[in-house]
Amino acid sequence: MVRVVTIDGPSGSGKGTIARLLADRLGWHCLDSGALYRLVGLAADRAGVSFDDPVALEAVARGLEAEFVGERVLLGGEDVGLAIRTEQAGNLASKVAAVPGVRAALLDWQRAYARPPGLVADGRDMGTVVFPDAPVKVFLTADAEERARRRHKQLLEKGISANFAHLVAEIRERDERDRSRAVAPLKAPAAALEIESTALPIAGVLDRVLERVRSAFPDLAV
Ligand code: DC
Repeated sequence: MVRVVTIDGPSGSGKGTIARLLADRLGWHCLDSGALYRLVGLAADRAGVSFDDPVALEAVARGLEAEFVGERVLLGGEDVGLAIRTEQAGNLASKVAAVPGVRAALLDWQRAYARPPGLVADGRDMGTVVFPDAPVKVFLTADAEERARRRHKQLLEKGISANFAHLVAEIRERDERDRSRAVAPLKAPAAALEIESTALPIAGVLDRVLERVRSAFPDLAV
């Protein structure tokens, strides 16, 4: 059994940053499952597929020509690393993510990331659906305004312009859609370590996660 740590939470909760830091610290693989939904959203948009057509959206997910090469994300050979990070791509992702057939199409793809020595997986349903047997599950939250502030900073650092008030509104809208959908809604897995990070710096979050990792895998020297 490959060791898996899941990190779920709403948009901007810091789960991507924590997942990457933890994977580097452990020397494990890292799965950013949101990137897959963002790729499906982008591919569907580019192909002119209707977001109200679940059959066509599932076909896009099943035929997704995506590759992860180091830090680069390719769609049909084109580098879309920046294009999938925009708020618009996040919203398209949240829409396709509500389609059961799209989620089913991405399931095996995500599980295939569980390779030795271990995997840190971040998303919305990593601990509830994709890796329900993971020995360590984390659920990260922070209030919407703080998450919008972090997202704003991240986007500006990447040279993507964004309006703060729009970001808060979009984050709330996305939370609502992700939490209320019928399939694999965003919610804390049973027995998850829940961390409210509004006033907690990244280093403090990482310390708490590491503590849980050490007790689940006592042989690891981290
Ligand atoms: O984590 P993110 O912001 O990159 O995710 C983009 C969208 O994809 C998010 O609004 C909901 C969806 N998503 C999901 O439904 N399940 C996941 N495991 C990851 C992301």
